[in-house]
Amino acid sequence: MSGDKRTRVAVIGGGANSEHEVSLASAAAVRDGLPAASYDVVALTIERGGGWRDGDGRPLGAAGAVALLSTCDVVFPAVHGAGGEDGTLAALCALVEVPCVGSPTGAGATAMDKQLTKLVAASVGIRVAAGRVVTPGDAHHVGWDGPVVVKPLTAGSSQGVARVDRADDLEAALKEAFVHDDRVLVEEVVTGREIDVSVLGCADGARVVPPPLEIVGPGIFDYATKYGGGADLRVPAEVTEAERDVLTDTAVKMYDALGCRGLARIDFFLTEDGPVLLEVNTMPGLTEHSQAPRMFAAAGITYPMLLDRMVREALR
Ligand SMILES: Nc1ncnc2c1ncn2[C@@H]1O[C@H](COP(=O)(O)OP(=O)(O)O)[C@@H](O)[C@H]1O
Ligand SMILES: [Mg+2]
Repeated sequence: MSGDKRTRVAVIGGGANSEHEVSLASAAAVRDGLPAASYDVVALTIERGGGWRDGDGRPLGAAGAVALLSTCDVVFPAVHGAGGEDGTLAALCALVEVPCVGSPTGAGATAMDKQLTKLVAASVGIRVAAGRVVTPGDAHHVGWDGPVVVKPLTAGSSQGVARVDRADDLEAALKEAFVHDDRVLVEEVVTGREIDVSVLGCADGARVVPPPLEIVGPGIFDYATKYGGGADLRVPAEVTEAERDVLTDTAVKMYDALGCRGLARIDFFLTEDGPVLLEVNTMPGLTEHSQAPRMFAAAGITYPMLLDRMVREALR
């Protein structure tokens, strides 16, 4: 940061959802990665069952959390999933009148809902997988015309996501997905290379898009592969210049259609007919080894630089 004033930043981790552990890891990395010369970090954690704790593990209560947040210059909500990334924390910050890193409430809420995301994508001409939303009430009426992917509308980290190749397995997959959400997407299986694109939006309208990343592997990119250390992630993805251009343009178009701010990771399948949107993460995994930071590193933007830029954009 330029200037002589240090920035007091609240880094929130945890969250009351099934991505709690992932968010703890992101928040810890953000706290460590923010350049110490410029930032005073205040840690807050949302417990798995709800409720706030301070950096020493002391319960804060909601009023205490709000009081602490309002002593800060800016909030960094490193909370993936419901109650965080879905716009909840952006809304809290707006009401407390503290700048917040990342997307505003509307973009977060829309991106959290995979069906709404697909509707927005389709409205600007971005291809999505054919599919339908199923509730527990109509789960018995889902027909079968070949393999599908079943996934909760608003979960993350691949939890409750399954590929179903036999009609007999559909009911069990739906049951598992309904553990995470009472609305579930049943989608055609998209065949293509799984490629993620990061976008960092700047207040002046510039969009920084580092080289894309490919997830190499058969089938679903599941929780164990994501966090077990065995994922085969290639940065930069081996794509042609034309492919990279179309991925970049499509990612930026999606980012702007949703009204994202700060960093977002836009995930695609690159098929023979071009990119098919998979999903949008408005608070993507943020350890130094997570996808988005690796993509920026490939563009020469180190992890501390990325975090610093994210905060500075929120303060503009
Ligand atoms: N329609 C689909 N066809 C093929 N694979 C899919 C499809 N939808 C999801 N997947 C696989 O499942 C993984 C998780 O799905 P995703 O929509 O990204 O949910 P999450 O929010 O849990 O990451 C993806 O990374 C991809 O490997
Ligand atoms: Mg995903």
